[in-house]
Amino acid sequence: MEAIRKPIVVLDFGAQYSKLIARRVRETHVYSVIVPYTITAEALREMTPSGIILSGGPASVHQAGAPHPDPGIFELGLPVLGICYGTQLFAHLLGGIVARAQHREYGIARFEHHHTCALFEGMTSPAQVWMSHGDRVEMLPRGFASVGHTENSPYAAIADLERHFYGVQFHPEVAHTPEGMQVFQNFVHKICGCGDSWTMGSFSEAAIREIRERVGYKKVLCALSGGVDSSVAAALIHRAVGDQLTCVFVNNGLLRKNEAEMVCRVFRDNFHVNLICVDAEARFLDALAGVTDPEQKRKIIGAVFIKVFEEEAHKLGHMDFLAQGTLYPDVIESLSATGGPSATIKSHHNVGGLPDEMQLELLEPLRDLFKDEVRALGHELGLPDEIVSRHPFPGPGLGVRCVGAVTRERLDTLREADAIFVEEIKKAGLYDDIWQALACLLPVRSVGVQGDERTYEEVCSLRAVTSSDAMTADWYQFDTELLRRVANRICNEVARINRVLYDITSKPPGTIEWE
Ligand code: XMP
Repeated sequence: MEAIRKPIVVLDFGAQYSKLIARRVRETHVYSVIVPYTITAEALREMTPSGIILSGGPASVHQAGAPHPDPGIFELGLPVLGICYGTQLFAHLLGGIVARAQHREYGIARFEHHHTCALFEGMTSPAQVWMSHGDRVEMLPRGFASVGHTENSPYAAIADLERHFYGVQFHPEVAHTPEGMQVFQNFVHKICGCGDSWTMGSFSEAAIREIRERVGYKKVLCALSGGVDSSVAAALIHRAVGDQLTCVFVNNGLLRKNEAEMVCRVFRDNFHVNLICVDAEARFLDALAGVTDPEQKRKIIGAVFIKVFEEEAHKLGHMDFLAQGTLYPDVIESLSATGGPSATIKSHHNVGGLPDEMQLELLEPLRDLFKDEVRALGHELGLPDEIVSRHPFPGPGLGVRCVGAVTRERLDTLREADAIFVEEIKKAGLYDDIWQALACLLPVRSVGVQGDERTYEEVCSLRAVTSSDAMTADWYQFDTELLRRVANRICNEVARINRVLYDITSKPPGTIEWE
């Protein structure tokens, strides 16, 4: 694929920000990939990079077992940008001295740069930057000079202009460094000489070509959930191979209000995709009858899904490929040298797998993309906003939000409350500021009074969080008027709820879903 032939390669030393670095590079319209720091110089050369970024890391270069790269990477003749720990590696590995700083520098600092350095072209000086380090460079390696300082760090930025090696002690990738994007722009365009080749337009053209070549005249099966990832994967594959794609959408009865109708309308009526909508509500609800344990609910939902999907696939006859909306963060996690903490969490979320005897080859056309790129691609492919910008929704659906017994009646109640909450958030123009907004129905009854009557009904808990990857989350601070309106509407309009709570627990310690 043309756009991905000369990537910027980010060596991951275990930083929490490696993914963010790769995303920032892509925001400059240059393709970037993350590889474990253990990659050999030879393997790196084979990737034909335009430049290398050494990420930050939690370690000190002096620690026993501190991650060090193959020193051969400095001999490849490629521009290198070190960030935080990456900068200390330069100094440590190329003949300088790194020592523990007397004061750990953490937080916002004023960075003054030397106006002659290409890395900082267009950046104000002093500029606000975000620092987070315990070690600092004390003596520069040969060939390097200081190109910027803060009050505490005379070597807050260093460079060997001849070899095109640059190091910054601060974190240009985080939002607390407001002009950080300029550093990436300068590095990739001015120093590495990359063009603007990474756009979702260029990606989709190339991906469509690749899918056509790989699939040929064979057949592709796709489990469409209505979520962003499977929807974009389906739309892309459909653009590439048309009727050779068949999508199966299983209505498990655990979906949001009008969700099944919307998915069918978009894919069948607008896109004219071969779509099989299976109404399996009764099967799921029968299997869930009387079950209240969250883990057991998940297992049942996963198992019934596979059974239903398999039956449908069987009816379709021979298929060659199974399309999946795997994204780049999932790929990185499975390759990570340090085995990211998110790896275990993800496996808990993935609802089983398809049996091996189906013998389908996997087709994962989104495995190079981050979530925001998938959304941009979805727009590019003409998918409507109601799919592309929709908040994430768990595979087991309302099954994990209907705490306690899952019955049709309780699900209907929950669907109505959820729809009101989301409708009011959209009306207030806040939907896109929130990672996820949801309602849960709690199996707790309380006494209320409505009109002249006393009621004894269940409790609805509302939750809205901000997050960038769902690993951590904070509760969203609504204006109280909005909460008042939502609570009034739910109590007045939804039968069987007489009390509404707003959840102010962050993650951790809470999870996003209640289960
Ligand atoms: P928790 O509740 O663990 O959820 O904080 C983190 C994120 O993952 C979503 N989630 C799931 N997604 N299948 C999924 O595809 C699942 O089984 C599942 N469970 C939770 C949740 O909505 C949140 O965005």
